[in-house]
Amino acid sequence: MLLNVYNRFPVNFVKGEGLTLIDDKGDRYLDFVSGIAVNALGHAHPKMVETIQKQAETLLHVSNLYYNEAQNKAAEKLLEATKYERVFFCNSGAEANELALKIARKYGKGISPSKNVILYMKNSFHGRTTGTLAVTGQEKYQADYRPLIPNTVEVEFNNVAELKAKFNDDICAIILEPVQGEGGLASASSEFIAEIKALSEKHNSLVIFDEIQCGLSRTGTVLYSDQLPLKADVVTLAKALGGGVPIGACITKGRANEILVPGDHGSTYGGNPFVCSVAYTVLSEITTPEFLANVRKMSDYARQKLSELQVKHPEIEEIRGQGLLLGFKLKENLAAGDFVKKALEHKLLLVAAGGNVVRYFPALIVTEKEIDATIPILDQVFTEMKK
Ligand SMILES: Cc1ncc(COP(=O)(O)O)c(C=O)c1O
Repeated sequence: MLLNVYNRFPVNFVKGEGLTLIDDKGDRYLDFVSGIAVNALGHAHPKMVETIQKQAETLLHVSNLYYNEAQNKAAEKLLEATKYERVFFCNSGAEANELALKIARKYGKGISPSKNVILYMKNSFHGRTTGTLAVTGQEKYQADYRPLIPNTVEVEFNNVAELKAKFNDDICAIILEPVQGEGGLASASSEFIAEIKALSEKHNSLVIFDEIQCGLSRTGTVLYSDQLPLKADVVTLAKALGGGVPIGACITKGRANEILVPGDHGSTYGGNPFVCSVAYTVLSEITTPEFLANVRKMSDYARQKLSELQVKHPEIEEIRGQGLLLGFKLKENLAAGDFVKKALEHKLLLVAAGGNVVRYFPALIVTEKEIDATIPILDQVFTEMKK
């Protein structure tokens, strides 16, 4: 029936409530995947339900030939929260990155015909479209689709010497996730960020941060890069922006604002009233100082609990990530994929990442009680796996 592109777990969900998912047999699961950092407000959040019901009765879709009130409100809210200046709404993360790449290429062309090279990171993940695959530094995703779009050059993440060697005037942009999601939750080092800042200024290149997984409050600030001394020209967002409805965004500032002109880009559904009304509600919840403070508090709590578990199970090599973009790297004797399968048997949902990392991604409304509930399950999974 369905095209065979996913390795799915044998479970069929029918309902969600907060951090709980319920399958077709009535079994309840603790959701520490959150749709891979999508369900920031958990499942069936009352404010999202109310917004969706109201918007369905008002206006679901209207073409981008016209303005719509919901899009204006979502744009205003997003720009105010991120301190960026312009936004384009699309339908997914990959689409947001496609636009960022188009902005980069057109920016370069405006300066010199040879300024068309895009630097990207090894172990990055930017999406599955043909354009984004060309900057996704993972052989397993690229191999079968070559030739990919040309003039993209890979750099090892956090390798300052390699970055310096590969940066030159032909670079129109560098794209990176400041915390790599699928790659295994490695964070960009301060030296690496400082060098990107210096080299992008020297060579007049755009900086693109893909904050699709790490952005929108998951790390305890609205953008993860709010914590960095470098503001990207372009930031791409999706996932948590809609809390579960499909919406992405590409936000820009300064020199990146006016590169595209009418006719250069578009999307039929992008930014329609339905998704924008939900994004407005989600943003109104997740960007308040109280909400962000609670994300940081829950992150500290979860880290402390995971550290205690690490003492008992030294198979946890390292606790990784920022805020609730959290996970743990396992030593080689235990495979992250097997760990996730075992946890599912115990009704805890987790998701593996590269580098033998298990991601622990609760909704941002998680409570201490829900974190506490995961610990005996994790303990049990370690015990069973070591048998
Ligand atoms: C950092 C990052 N960029 C881009 C994407 C692609 O987003 P989408 O699946 O919405 O196209 C993802 C998805 O996991 C991601 O984590």
